[in-house]
Amino acid sequence: MCGIVGYIGRNNPKEILLAGLKNLEYRGYDSAGIALKNEENVQIIKSIGKISALEEKINDIELINANMGIAHTRWATHGKVTLENAHPHQAGYITVVHNGIIENANELKENLVKEGISFYSDTDTEVIAAIINKFYCESKNIFKAISKALNILKGSYALGILVSDIDKVYAVRKNSPLIVGVGKDEYFIASDIAAIINYTNRYILLDEDEICELSFKGVEVSKDGMIVEKDVLTTDLISEDTSKGKYEHFMLKEIMEEPNVFTKTLEKYLNNPDLLIDLNKYEEIHIVACGSAMYAGMVGKYLLEEVADIKVDVECASEYRYKKVFYNKKTLVILISQSGETADTIAAMRKAKENGIDTLAIVNVKTSTIAREALYKLFIEAGAEIAVATTKAYLLQVLVLSLLTVNTAYKKNLVNLDALDEVKKLPMMLDEVLKRSADYQKIADTIYENEDIFFIGRGIDYAISMEGSLKLKEVAYIHSEAYQAGELKHGTISLIEDNMPVFAIITDEKNKDKTLSNVIEVKSRGAKVIVITSEDDLEKFDYEIIVPKVNKLFQSMLIVPVLQLIAYYTALKRNCEIDKPKNLAKSVTVE
Ligand code: AGP
Repeated sequence: MCGIVGYIGRNNPKEILLAGLKNLEYRGYDSAGIALKNEENVQIIKSIGKISALEEKINDIELINANMGIAHTRWATHGKVTLENAHPHQAGYITVVHNGIIENANELKENLVKEGISFYSDTDTEVIAAIINKFYCESKNIFKAISKALNILKGSYALGILVSDIDKVYAVRKNSPLIVGVGKDEYFIASDIAAIINYTNRYILLDEDEICELSFKGVEVSKDGMIVEKDVLTTDLISEDTSKGKYEHFMLKEIMEEPNVFTKTLEKYLNNPDLLIDLNKYEEIHIVACGSAMYAGMVGKYLLEEVADIKVDVECASEYRYKKVFYNKKTLVILISQSGETADTIAAMRKAKENGIDTLAIVNVKTSTIAREALYKLFIEAGAEIAVATTKAYLLQVLVLSLLTVNTAYKKNLVNLDALDEVKKLPMMLDEVLKRSADYQKIADTIYENEDIFFIGRGIDYAISMEGSLKLKEVAYIHSEAYQAGELKHGTISLIEDNMPVFAIITDEKNKDKTLSNVIEVKSRGAKVIVITSEDDLEKFDYEIIVPKVNKLFQSMLIVPVLQLIAYYTALKRNCEIDKPKNLAKSVTVE
C-alpha cells in the first residue's frame, strides 16, 4: 500500500527518488521521506502529506552530495500520520524503508527495549531497523544480519536498506512486491515498476527472502549465502502510461482508454482462443477477490451460471481465507485482481493450492505474486492503472469472464459463436457511450448534494449496481448502497425520502418488469429515479440513460462505464481528490 524506491549510480539520487515517489504516490500518500547517502553520511528528510510537501522541504535544505538513496511514500498502518512515523527509519548503522506489516513487532520491541534500545516512532519498521542493526553490530556481516532478522520477523515486508558504513543498497521482500531495476551503470529498487519506468524498462523479480545487493558495479542476488542467477526481464510499460496526458485526472484518462484496452484484450483472446481454459472439466467454481474485482466476479457468476450452466460461488477473499471451504476434486478457484498483490486474494489462492485445488488468475500486473503463483493465468491488457478507483481493469476482468463463458458454453453446445461478432462491435459502442459526458454531468449535478443514494437491480443488474455504488462511495464520498431490487421492501425502503436518488439498473430482460415495479415503489415514496438501461421502451422516470442493447453476455460492459463517469463527475462537483481518495490505496498489500 505504500511505495518504495531506491537508487545507486552515476546520477543525482534526489531527482530520481523524488520522481519515483511521484509515480508511486497513488499507492500511499499520507507522508513521505527520503534517505540520501554518500561515503560519510546518511541524511534523512521526511514530511507529512503529499510528495510535493517533501519536495519543498528538500529544496529548502542543504543536501549532502549523495550517490545512493532510498525513499518511501506511506499509507499508515502502524502508528498515526506523524513525522516520527514517516519512513525512512534509522537504528544505528541501518536505515530502512518498508512496505507491509510485521505481526510480531510489539513482542520484538518489548525485548529490544529490555536490552536498552530506544525507539522514536510507533512503527513496526523501526523495529526492523533495530533488529538488523543489533545483528550487524554483533557480526559486522550485513548478509548474516539481514538473514538473521528475516528469520525472526513474522508478517510481510518489502525492504530497502542502507548501511552507514557500506556503499551499497540492499533489498529483500516477502509477501509484498519489490523489483530491482537494471539501468546503465545505475540500479534501482521499486515496489512498482511505474516508479522507475522513466529510467529503465529492465528489471529483475526478487523471490521471497532472496537478498539483493546493489552496488555501482551491478546487482547480486543471493539466498542462504549462495548466489542466485536471475533473469533480466523487460516490461512493455511506457512512461506515457504513468502520466495524465491531456486529462485532468487519471480516472478520466483510464475510463477514456477503455475502448482501446478492450480491443487489445479482446484481440489477444480471439487470436489465441486456447488461452481460455475449458471450464467444463470442473464441477464448481469459486471466484475469490476483493472490492471491484469481486464485483466483476459477481457479473461472471451470473454469466457462467446462466449461459454456461456451471455452478459458481463468489466470495470475498478476506472471508474466504479464514472460513471453512468445501472443496471437491473438481473445484476451480478463480482469483481476480488488478494488482495481483492484494494480500487477502493471495492468501485465498495459497489456501486453494494447499488443498490441491486448481487456481486460475485473471490479473493485470504480469510481474505480480498472483500472476506468478496461480496455476493458470489470463492476463488483461489494461496497462498501468494509476487512479485508486479501478475502471478499465474492472471492465477487462468482466470481458475475460464473458469470453470464458462463451468458450465454456460453446463447448457444451449452449451457444454458437455469433455472440463473438457482437463483442467485436463493443469498442465502437463504448466510444459512443463515453462521449455522452454532458448527460452524465447532468446527473452528477442532480445528485452531488445528496448524502445517501441507492442503487437497485436484479440478477446481473444487482452485480452491476454493486460496482456503481462502490465507485460513488470511493471517489465522491457519498454514502450509497446497492440492493437487490426485490429486497428493498424488507426494511430498507423505510429510508427512502423525498428527493433521494435511486439508480435503477435495468438490462436483464427476464427481470425487467419486476425491477420496474420496485422503481415505482420508491418513486411513489419521493425518490428521484435515475434509470440506466439498455431497454428503449421503458416508462419514463426522472432521468434516464439508454445504452445500445447487445447480447446479455456483454451488456454490463456498456452500463458500467456510465456509472464510472457519473461517479467521476459527481466527485468533481464535490471537489474530491479523485485519483487519491482519502484513506484508500491502490494496492491493498496488508490484511
Ligand atoms: C476499486 O475501485 C478499489 N480500488 C478496490 O475495491 C480494488 O478493486 C480492490 O482493492 C482489489 O484490488 P486488486 O484488483 O488489485 O486485487
